[in-house]
Amino acid sequence: MTREGNGVLEAIFRKRAHGGPMDPLTEGRLVAGEGLAGNADQGGHRQVTLIEAEVWDALAREFGHPIDPAARRANLMVRGVSLKETRGRVLGIGSCRVRILGETRPCELMDQAVQGLRNALSPDWRAGAFGEVLEGGPIALGDPVAWQEKPMMRPPFDTVRWDKDSVRIIDQTRLPGVLEYRRLETVEEVAEAIETLAVRGAPAIGIAAAYGVALAAHRARAPEAKEAARKARERLARTRPTAVNLFGALDRQAELFDTVPEDRLAVALLREADRMLEEDLETGRRIGLAGQSVLPDRRPVRVLTHCNAGGLATGGWGTALAPLYAAQDRGIEIDVWADETRPLGQGRRLTAWELAQAGIPVRLLVDGAAASALMRGAVDLVIVGADRIAANGDTANKIGTLSVALAAHAAGIPFYVAAPATTFDFATPDGSAIPVEERSEREVLVDAPPGVRGWNPAFDVTPFRLITGWITEAGVLMPPFAALRPGGT
Ligand code: MRU
Repeated sequence: MTREGNGVLEAIFRKRAHGGPMDPLTEGRLVAGEGLAGNADQGGHRQVTLIEAEVWDALAREFGHPIDPAARRANLMVRGVSLKETRGRVLGIGSCRVRILGETRPCELMDQAVQGLRNALSPDWRAGAFGEVLEGGPIALGDPVAWQEKPMMRPPFDTVRWDKDSVRIIDQTRLPGVLEYRRLETVEEVAEAIETLAVRGAPAIGIAAAYGVALAAHRARAPEAKEAARKARERLARTRPTAVNLFGALDRQAELFDTVPEDRLAVALLREADRMLEEDLETGRRIGLAGQSVLPDRRPVRVLTHCNAGGLATGGWGTALAPLYAAQDRGIEIDVWADETRPLGQGRRLTAWELAQAGIPVRLLVDGAAASALMRGAVDLVIVGADRIAANGDTANKIGTLSVALAAHAAGIPFYVAAPATTFDFATPDGSAIPVEERSEREVLVDAPPGVRGWNPAFDVTPFRLITGWITEAGVLMPPFAALRPGGT
């Protein structure tokens, strides 16, 4: 049920200490950027956690007796507003504002409190949400609670999610004909989904792999969790070589192998994968905003893009398409020229589909027509995504990107790359060291006469000097990308 109306703050709980009791309060204080004053958890992504009173009413019916909501160890219980799938929305609580950053997952502690509670809380955000305090102030029981903004004009695509103990993806091989969600139940299924491009696009590959490692530990459990997660990492690292996001995500998970006790490893890996997804969603929003500064004043803004660097290629908002979505939200008229993207048709099948879903006008052109469009001045700028950006700015992206960059350079049209920090590889000095995936020649030889050979590099590398700027979550940057380097400013 969707509840958009006004709600009320029904309970406040303060966690005195980690693992300590939850103290019920009649009033408290939210502190911007920190959380509930006096609570053991402060700062970061989980500044405050919330649950829905209606869920606890339903649990009382399901279990046949009331369950103390303090068992959930959340800070605030609200009634009258639905928390389900509210990532990115802003909730007003009294005079405070909290931005929801994600869904909280129930852990083993739930079952220690009431046997079966963990499972009962698992689906549909029943365990609640967490978020950051944008505006702090006093809060008290009975304070009004209401969503402060309408949802964005479109939901982000739920490209990769964790759902019912498995990794759930939109199977992109079936688009645009069928929007099919597929549940991946084993690491091998996750690996194959990446290899066959059922899930694809650099950030989405990274997130899927992170969930794949969590899946392995989840299925194995202690004492085999660590070994299973290690093996999963090895298998997933062999799927596709170019997108550096894959290796970044796997390394991030691997850091937990030796630092988290084995009986808690599965939960920690899942949390970390959730965090990567949430960071990616936030990053997409920021790239969208940063990209506004490169759009010309002319209307409609005519943008050429290659491949698919949209919601389907990420956790949900996209990179190259994020500035277009943000512009649409601002009422700016956009006209997209989408390269078809031979041989697998990511532009034709995916970019055209997702833009059409969002109501953004799009026209398709064969890859070879991009140079003509640019030389005729039919577009104002080019924005593409990236799979790996070397330290000097050389950028690997879908095969055909280089041809577009060369043509844009010849035509004097700005050529931008939109990418998150996770796509920058400062350990790789320049493009010559970027591994480029070669795929089966069969993908190219469709309808070719027998006996003809093919060549099928999946990516090419555009030299930095052909790129006007890199649109990132930290703004529009130029080499050496100081704002993104570890410790750099
Ligand atoms: O082979 P694919 O479809 O995974 O290639 C995808 C791309 O080249 C994208 O442009 C890139 O990953 C950026 S996605 C935000």
